[in-house]
Amino acid sequence: MAEHESLEFGKADFVLLDTISMPEFMANLKLRFEKSRIYSYIGEVVVSVNPYRSMNIYGRDTIEQYKGRELYERPPHLFAIADAAYKAMKRRSKDTCIVISGESGAGKTEASKYIMQYIAAITNPGQRAEVERVKNMLLKSNCVLEAFGNAKTNRNDNSSRFGKYMDINFDFKGDPIGGHINNYLLEKSRVIVQQEGERSFHSFYQLVLGGPESLLRSLHIQKDPKAYAYIQVGGQKKSSINDSADFKAVADAMKVIGFTQEEIQTVYKILAAILHLGNLKFGSDGDVTLIENSKLASVLGDLLSTRQENVEKALLYRTVATGRDVIDKQHTEQEASYGRDALAKAIYERLFCWIVGRINDIIEVKDFDVKVHGKNTVIGVLDIYGFEIFQNNSFEQFCINYCNEKLQQLFIQLVLQQEQEEYQREGIPWKHIDYFNNQVIVDLVEQQHKGIFAILDEACMNVGKVTDEMFLQGLNNKLAKHAHFSSRKLFPTDKSLEFDRDFRIRHYAGDVVYSVVSFIDKNKDTLFQDFKRLLYNSSNPVLKSMWPEGKLSITEVTKRPLTAATLFKNSMIALVENLACKEPYYVRCIKPNDLKSPLLFEEERCRHQVEYLGLLENVRVRRAGFAYRQTYQRFLQRYKMISTITWPNHELPSDQEAVKKLLQASGFEQDSAYGKTKVFIRTPRTLFALEDQRAQMVQRIVLFLQKIWRGTIARIRYRRMRASLIIIRCYRRYKVKAYIREVAHRFHNVRNMKDYGKHVKWPIPPRVLRKFEEALQGLYSRWRAGQLIRSLPPEDLPKVRAKVAALETLKGQRTDMALQRAWEGNYVKRDQPELASFFTLASSELQRKDKFMNVLFSCHVRKINRFNKAEDRAILITDRHLYKMDPLKQYKVMKSIPLYNVSGLSVSPGKDQLVVFHTKDNRDLIVCLQGIEPPGESRIGELVGVIVSHFKSEMRKIQVNTLNPIQCSMHGKKCTIAVETKINQSQPDFVKSRAGYILSVPGN
Ligand SMILES: Nc1ncnc2c1ncn2[C@@H]1O[C@H](COP(=O)(O)OP(=O)(O)OP(=O)(O)O)[C@@H](O)[C@H]1O
Ligand SMILES: [Mg+2]
Repeated sequence: MAEHESLEFGKADFVLLDTISMPEFMANLKLRFEKSRIYSYIGEVVVSVNPYRSMNIYGRDTIEQYKGRELYERPPHLFAIADAAYKAMKRRSKDTCIVISGESGAGKTEASKYIMQYIAAITNPGQRAEVERVKNMLLKSNCVLEAFGNAKTNRNDNSSRFGKYMDINFDFKGDPIGGHINNYLLEKSRVIVQQEGERSFHSFYQLVLGGPESLLRSLHIQKDPKAYAYIQVGGQKKSSINDSADFKAVADAMKVIGFTQEEIQTVYKILAAILHLGNLKFGSDGDVTLIENSKLASVLGDLLSTRQENVEKALLYRTVATGRDVIDKQHTEQEASYGRDALAKAIYERLFCWIVGRINDIIEVKDFDVKVHGKNTVIGVLDIYGFEIFQNNSFEQFCINYCNEKLQQLFIQLVLQQEQEEYQREGIPWKHIDYFNNQVIVDLVEQQHKGIFAILDEACMNVGKVTDEMFLQGLNNKLAKHAHFSSRKLFPTDKSLEFDRDFRIRHYAGDVVYSVVSFIDKNKDTLFQDFKRLLYNSSNPVLKSMWPEGKLSITEVTKRPLTAATLFKNSMIALVENLACKEPYYVRCIKPNDLKSPLLFEEERCRHQVEYLGLLENVRVRRAGFAYRQTYQRFLQRYKMISTITWPNHELPSDQEAVKKLLQASGFEQDSAYGKTKVFIRTPRTLFALEDQRAQMVQRIVLFLQKIWRGTIARIRYRRMRASLIIIRCYRRYKVKAYIREVAHRFHNVRNMKDYGKHVKWPIPPRVLRKFEEALQGLYSRWRAGQLIRSLPPEDLPKVRAKVAALETLKGQRTDMALQRAWEGNYVKRDQPELASFFTLASSELQRKDKFMNVLFSCHVRKINRFNKAEDRAILITDRHLYKMDPLKQYKVMKSIPLYNVSGLSVSPGKDQLVVFHTKDNRDLIVCLQGIEPPGESRIGELVGVIVSHFKSEMRKIQVNTLNPIQCSMHGKKCTIAVETKINQSQPDFVKSRAGYILSVPGN
């Protein structure tokens, strides 16, 4: 059942009509046509109404919509059935066929082309070059076949004048790998004569109007169809067909397909030869028949690559073998004309069959190996002439209508009988539906000995003069009692039939009166042997190959060739057998009007077609009480969401019971029946109700699925995130552990190392441990210092403390701390050994008097006196006082400052030995250490270190500044002392400056 189409467009499937009657069927068909819905279904049969305008429904978008879809998923379309056939072929390896039927102009050929285009579009996704080539050939072959096999008729500007069945072969992947075309009964009489308003085959007009000048010249052809007797009827009116453009398209297509240049040239020569043949005129001179315009015979000789005499002889004489003798029997004028026309028709027919054969050679599947390529499956497309009723119906119409009887029979067998059989198979009680089985008509035509074809053949076989009337006589004799046959002789009152001329067949599609005129002749289809020999002996190999039977010598007894009727009958039986073993799909085409109008829906006309296509019967049988059937499994798949019994899965023993419960629960129990494998639903209304419920549930299911899926995605994402966090954490922990392990490893023996591990390189810590590393290094440094200090003797400790104090105080301010050297402290005696005894005496005196414990520092200095003069003195610093002494007066103490009075020290950042002792009473002592041995050594660091260390040991603080210039107070007055280098200065010396003093030091 087709969905997605609202009811305003009528019912997409005729099976869903409320009641099945012709008016309702027609009303629905009309409504859909008017709403531009040209396709409808009857179950799986597509009904197509020719829109007579281009419809925008065959593009890429539409193809995508139908690709891989089920029939009922999209609105009715040719593509849906093409896809169904393709799927059956691909999924189930079934050979399938699509039978397209309908009357002339109903759109069969167009439909077959759209189907092929669709198949070409959906196959070969890998764009394999070979497959593309095959597809291109298959599509291009249409163009060539239409040029030679189609003609403008009063019913269709591009009417197929032959039947076509095309097989497309597919490999196991479903890609086309080749094809084969069968052609049926070309209407060759059209070559020599056409009805008013019609044309001969397109190929003639294409050559005459579209062939390049040089080609036409070589063929002796004028650019005017009216100049040629065979095509002048059709050449008179200007037609809408663009022959000239078509000529090029066909020439290109032939080239693409693979016709050689020689072959294409021969095709043109044959067409030209036929046109010239038509202009040949016979006359008589006494008893002699002759060609009036014998120049044409020479042209023919040229075109057919044979000699002029041969052409003339074949046209004018007939060579007959009587026993051993061979005699040339001259034709009468009439016989010669008959022979000429027969030749023209035969050449064209051969040409057409040869073209089909050549196309087949090229497109046939080559190098196919079942082991490599898998099963070779086939989709067949049958585009064959529809049922025809004309004013005057002759042998061709008889054959065509017989063909349609055969196809209808097949349709009945496959669709209608299958339907009944399905009910039986499924065990559903079957209410017999009466449908017309046309087997009786098929038998009437084709039965051996008794059928019309057999009677015709029998008449043809009679020796002596055989007439069409004799054939009719035969029919009257043998078929007098047949319910579907009548003639004037059998029904003398029936005035619609002419005596000795007409017979009527009651076809399944309606009554048709045939005229027996020329039945015998057309059935015999005589072509004098002379023509076959003529063409076989052509020096043109292409032409020669078309006439192999010309090889037989005159005296050889030839078997009577099969008659046209027998050939046609055999080809039809073969065709039907071929179709019967395939899975059939049907397209039933309807022609809405005779005016090629896109707007007109001629109800009577359409009703007639619906009748003879048996569409109503088709619906009836399809419905047969049940509008819809589906296998239990698929039914459940589609409707299981409607009930909680079946959603999401049922727990019943079988799908059948689940479907039963589902329908019971929904209240449709009364409207359904249960077969062995399928459920049958009686009325369409139930189906619509089921569809409605399904549509509602589908929305909820979609939401539900979305919810579940979103949750799933979120959970997946969350798990991933958590996992990555765990990984990160483990990794970090590992890095930390690895670092700590490495530190422990590198430092584990430092206690026993000489430098307590100072040389050990620290590993690079992970970033999180940078702070930790700093702390660790601090810890380690303190531990190492502790170790070092512990190893020192106790008397050295004050000196170490002093050095540490110096370092702490001056680090970054002065560089000359002399930490490497041993600090002796008491330098006066060492610097001036000759005066050492005086100093020892003076310091002992002071010890006794001031009771100091240690000498912290002593040194010679230069200082400024109160008259701004420099004086050489010595200073002695004990743990209690700072003494200023005069070395020249046996180190007489000139001044003593208690250490608690010293509030600070100032030094400069340079290398000079300037020290300012700040005192609490603002009488700062400004000195420059001097007399240092060895010269250039610095004692500032030592002086600062011992004093700061001493103060520390007494828990007092002392301020140490490193500045230049230094701020100080002299005798209560503020002043500055700047240190400056001077080139010519030999010794540091003080000079007065405006702000205070300058200590000039030697520059080097
Ligand atoms: N689907 C379609 N869309 C548009 N026009 C169409 C369509 N089908 C048919 N026609 C028109 O109808 C014309 C006749 O169609 P087509 O040649 O297919 O008829 P046919 O059934 O093959 O007839 P015949 O039996 O004479 O060969 C086309 O030339 C085209 O103009
Ligand atoms: Mg056609």
